[in-house]
Amino acid sequence: MDSLKPSEIVKELDRYIIGQHRAKRSVSIALRNRWRRRQVPEGLREEIAPKNIILIGPTGVGKTEIARRLSKLTDSPFYKVEASKFTEVGYVGRDVESMVRDLLELTINLLKSREQETVKPKARSIAEERMLDLLLPPKPRPSQPDAGKELQLEVVTSAPTEESFSTREKLRGMLRAGKLDTRYVDLDVADKSMPTVEIFSNVGMEEMGINFKDMLGGLLPKNTRRRKIRVPEALEILAQEEAQNLIDMDKIIQQAKEKVEQSGIIFLDEIDKIVGKNGGGGPDVSREGVQRDLLPIVEGSTVTTKYGPVKTDHILFIASGAFHAITPSDLIPELQGRFPIRVELDSLNKDDFIRILTEPQNALTLQYTELLKTEGVEVVFESDAIDRIAAIAEEVNTHTENIGARRLHTLMECLLDDVLFDAPDMPEKRIVINGDYVDAKLKAIKNDEDLSRYIL
Ligand SMILES: Nc1ncnc2c1ncn2[C@@H]1O[C@H](COP(=O)(O)OP(=O)(O)OP(=O)(O)O)[C@@H](O)[C@H]1O
Ligand SMILES: [Mg+2]
Repeated sequence: MDSLKPSEIVKELDRYIIGQHRAKRSVSIALRNRWRRRQVPEGLREEIAPKNIILIGPTGVGKTEIARRLSKLTDSPFYKVEASKFTEVGYVGRDVESMVRDLLELTINLLKSREQETVKPKARSIAEERMLDLLLPPKPRPSQPDAGKELQLEVVTSAPTEESFSTREKLRGMLRAGKLDTRYVDLDVADKSMPTVEIFSNVGMEEMGINFKDMLGGLLPKNTRRRKIRVPEALEILAQEEAQNLIDMDKIIQQAKEKVEQSGIIFLDEIDKIVGKNGGGGPDVSREGVQRDLLPIVEGSTVTTKYGPVKTDHILFIASGAFHAITPSDLIPELQGRFPIRVELDSLNKDDFIRILTEPQNALTLQYTELLKTEGVEVVFESDAIDRIAAIAEEVNTHTENIGARRLHTLMECLLDDVLFDAPDMPEKRIVINGDYVDAKLKAIKNDEDLSRYIL
């Protein structure tokens, strides 16, 4: 999937995000560049560093949404994190390197569950055999004189005789037809009541890539308990166990590391929150420290994880922030230099809102229509209603706080409040939302500035 052309990436993003063409362009170029880099002769390939991006724009205009869609679109390991959540090494809190560890962990889990999916058929058939072993009453054993002989006898008795074979197949047929679904079997399952030890992540420990829980988990004896479980559930448990056994974790970890190093994307949200205005005292000192801590990671360094070292040289960083009272030039100079591409996102106006309400694959009007369909109620939004909602959204955004497209969410909730409440008991099953309906519901609130500040 990461061989998509820039124009194709933009086209895909267009299905969910309205406007913001420049931002879409930049991220699509950045992605295509990583694909190009992989075609470059080896010697030079290592030299080509990703061009990191800062997305600048007011709240609610699609910054996070673009990144989120991008991650689904391209099959790149993706991790989104709020920059404001980090603290300088030495302070209490998370150190910045943890984002690389988290990205790796996420990727491992993803690859693992994919692999589990591919081995599923095989795991199921092994699980079925084990289930049949559980269901078949133990064969009466002939006298057992001594251990040595028993082994031989075992071989003889377990060779399928005509009769036991046919019972087994009969049972298999019943199992598959679901005729045994109400029966129970005894199964040893991991005891969930094992005392969980909650350990607060500690910077020092994290640095070494040691996870206390994992360590203890390995040390404590695996507690299993014999439980009576219904056949279908037990089959599921057995299949999961077998899937675990079938996958090669070492291979997956290796693949994940390579994927992270070669095509990982880290989305650093709210980067402006780690800018301390005028370098004043107090907490700002630590914010600048966070910026300094970020430097080596963004530039390229090696992070120790519990799966071994991970190089960050070719991870793409996309930062984003509102940059209200500050600009990217307020970041420490070294960090500015590591984000050479700056893109400003446009604030949204009425025309954008009209499109956002109706065009995206996940458009709000569509969401509500589908939600209410589950109650058997058909909601129809007429175009003058859409027009009114968009106009009100723009108006409220200019008169109170500009929260971008998020305003549409509050407006729609408010507008449909009655319908959402009454839907199950409604006699008429078709509701037409037109301009008058919107005015009736929202005009009074909109005109009262205080009220709209609270409600919309
Ligand atoms: N251009 C757009 N097209 C379609 N939907 C949008 C657009 N901009 C925002 N939205 C919708 O508005 C909501 C908020 O957008 P998003 O999370 O991307 O905001 P943001 O720019 O990251 O803001 P913040 O700075 O507060 O994090 C999302 O539900 C998203 O679907
Ligand atoms: Mg955001």
